[in-house]
Amino acid sequence: MNARATNAYWGRSGLERTILETLAAAGMNVDALTIDDLAPADHFHSGGKSATLRLARLAELRPGMRVLDVGGGLGGPARTLAAEFGCRVTVVDLTESYVQAGEALTARLGLIDRVKHRIGDALALDVGADAFDVVWTQNSGMNIPDKERLYAGFARVMRPGGLLAIQEPMAGPVQPVVFPVMWARDAGTSFLRAPGEMRAVIGAAGFQVRAWDDVTAEAVGPSTGGPGPAHSVQRIVMGQALDAIVRAGQRNREEQRIVMIQAVLDLARSPRR
Ligand SMILES: C[S@@+](CC[C@H](N)C(=O)[O-])C[C@H]1O[C@@H](n2cnc3c(N)ncnc32)[C@H](O)[C@@H]1O
Repeated sequence: MNARATNAYWGRSGLERTILETLAAAGMNVDALTIDDLAPADHFHSGGKSATLRLARLAELRPGMRVLDVGGGLGGPARTLAAEFGCRVTVVDLTESYVQAGEALTARLGLIDRVKHRIGDALALDVGADAFDVVWTQNSGMNIPDKERLYAGFARVMRPGGLLAIQEPMAGPVQPVVFPVMWARDAGTSFLRAPGEMRAVIGAAGFQVRAWDDVTAEAVGPSTGGPGPAHSVQRIVMGQALDAIVRAGQRNREEQRIVMIQAVLDLARSPRR
């Protein structure tokens, strides 16, 4: 998907205001929002904030680490890594309305010194070479067919010996995927590969597996048939379309058509530049 198609599919105007109104309707004081108040509305992946915490612990993130969150959306994971792990995070996302809303939410939570938001394409990262200790990405590569280029690009923007932390839906042992899914109405814009193929692609980009966990059973949420409140980001962005996504998601998970992987990998060798 190019920038236009990505913005058309994911983007929504006035998102910050919609999120605040929805949280207020759920009884929250939007003038004193916390990371946890916001979490259902700004962690846009299965498993929500607890999946982010799980991956951050798996990666052993520490204060002061420089993290690039690729396809970081509204910045829920980034703000969590900054506030709870002391990281300095740059979020890159192709959807402009997410970057705008993300910046506003980061300011509202008083985290602008630790979290930056940039518009950018995961396939053409323009953030300086060898800059980051960690490249982080959660549920963001599903619309991208060229996984080889994606992971080679991750290697290029991290320092030697850096870490890659991913949460990604992958093709399960039973195919095909049932549509619609969160990221695609049909197979034309969904590009999942099986875990074994993903390991090979990521390995070829120079990474060595430190941990590779199937978290399908625990990373549930509104998109996979789990419960979700009215102020979930999935409902806010997808509206009534979420109902069909939830039904398909439940099947995809139960019938092992889609699996969810969390993995942490070391950059074992420098990529070809
Ligand atoms: C399901 S959301 C996940 C957002 C965030 N990672 C999170 O977990 O809250 C998928 C995100 O991927 C972004 N995305 C898709 N293709 C992208 C690309 N080529 N470059 C950058 N971001 C992309 C979308 O804009 C969207 O924000």
